[in-house]
Amino acid sequence: MGELATDKHVKYILSVEKRKDDFESVVMEHLRMNGAYWGLTALDLMGKLDAVDVDEVVSWVMSCQHDSGGFGGNVGHDPHILYTLSAVQVLALFDKMDLIDSDKVTSYIVGLQNEDGSFSGDMWGEVDTRFSYIAICCLSILHRLDRISVEKAVKYIISCKNMDGGFGCTPGGESHSGQIFCCVGALALTGSLDLVDKDLLGWWLCERQVKSGGLNGRPEKLPDVCYSWWVLSSLIMIDRVHWISKEKLTKFILDCQDKEKGGISDRPDDAVDVFHTYFGVAGSVPPPSPPPIFIFCCQPLES
Ligand code: FPP
Ligand code: ZN
Repeated sequence: MGELATDKHVKYILSVEKRKDDFESVVMEHLRMNGAYWGLTALDLMGKLDAVDVDEVVSWVMSCQHDSGGFGGNVGHDPHILYTLSAVQVLALFDKMDLIDSDKVTSYIVGLQNEDGSFSGDMWGEVDTRFSYIAICCLSILHRLDRISVEKAVKYIISCKNMDGGFGCTPGGESHSGQIFCCVGALALTGSLDLVDKDLLGWWLCERQVKSGGLNGRPEKLPDVCYSWWVLSSLIMIDRVHWISKEKLTKFILDCQDKEKGGISDRPDDAVDVFHTYFGVAGSVPPPSPPPIFIFCCQPLES
């Protein structure tokens, strides 16, 4: 089996940050905050976070915050809960949490909880279990979980549970590995994992591993490197990670590397991007470099 081409991936991530006009950069413009989080966390996992200018990144992150407390995906872009979590996680990664006005960020998130316990992503109201996870994760990091109705939030997430043991975006929505990560992560953070049928869900999740060793997001779909994170961490949270082949998955991830220019793609021979590079590194980086606690929190944090 090959190896993770760490040096090449570090170079690739740093080069993406420097380019401003090519296709990938333009497409990423509105979600640069997420891109920053993926790239920086991947660098951290590879032990190269010191290659970036901390002050520059931190001051850019802070300039994306709005009076409401929420963060936008870039300077001058509307706030959204997705970018708010990424901003908080980037600041946490650099140990700069003291710059955050926790009450303000908390008030933004609290304002997004709906009467039924669900969360909207922003003022326009789209509801999705991704936003439940993000709200709970962000408030856990800020030690402000007590400011929302956790009971209602958990009840809503459980209402999105399906007969196959998985979870969807909203009640009745098809089970999808990404949503499962969000729901199981939110239940883990709130100490509610007893509400999950671990064997049933573990069975559904381990069936995501296909012949090539890669994992897909739902039945009959192609494998994709990003599911190494969504599926793997869900299996870890429910203690069923030994139900898939780690060796085969590692081989699949390594086969998705651009060994010359660096970066990891969704599947072999596709174009690389920062998102899949991050999830590929997170899924294949060997111990003793466990992901930082904030990478995508799935354990209750110490208060
Ligand atoms: C594609 O769905 C969607 C993804 C590859 C991302 C899935 C991940 C999540 C929903 C979790 C996001 C979590 C946070 C915290 C923001 P598709 O239907 O196009 O792809 P498919 O063909 O693989 O099913
Ligand atoms: Zn993907």
